[in-house]
Amino acid sequence: MAEHIHINASTKTEKYKQLYPQVKALLEGEKDLIANMANICSALKYGMDFFWVGFYLVKDNELVLGPFQGTVACTRIAKGKGVCGKAWELNDIIIVDDVDQFPEHIACSALSKSEIVIPVRDKNKNIIAIFDIDSDQYSSFDRTDEEWLRKIVELL
Ligand code: SME
Repeated sequence: MAEHIHINASTKTEKYKQLYPQVKALLEGEKDLIANMANICSALKYGMDFFWVGFYLVKDNELVLGPFQGTVACTRIAKGKGVCGKAWELNDIIIVDDVDQFPEHIACSALSKSEIVIPVRDKNKNIIAIFDIDSDQYSSFDRTDEEWLRKIVELL
């Protein structure tokens, strides 16, 4: 197993291109979902320098905080609440350029300015978790992030 994630690129696409095979290698041979989620969080937090990276797990019809890297976060989110609960309800990826403009956004940190939220599905397409990445800059996320982050969660 590699001990470090190495990124040596200036553009977002190049960073993801370098990161993806390293994350793939990191997860290879490990079947435990929580262990793999934890390593994805670390790889993205430190490889891409995001403010907060974490998973919320679907448990008893609620989202419960799972593996994450970053500042402390709220532990439970109801379906339809916040960006995470809305992505779960809509069964779709949500990109928020300015969290203050998103109705019902749940502010775990005042430093968080923009956000991308990606549903994680099992083999039967049921949502088992929500992957949430926060930035301390406005409008950090776009279709490039969506494309690569979707590929990364599909490794789970
Ligand atoms: N902002 C999220 C809550 C989770 S924190 O960002 C870590 C939301 O609105 O669902």
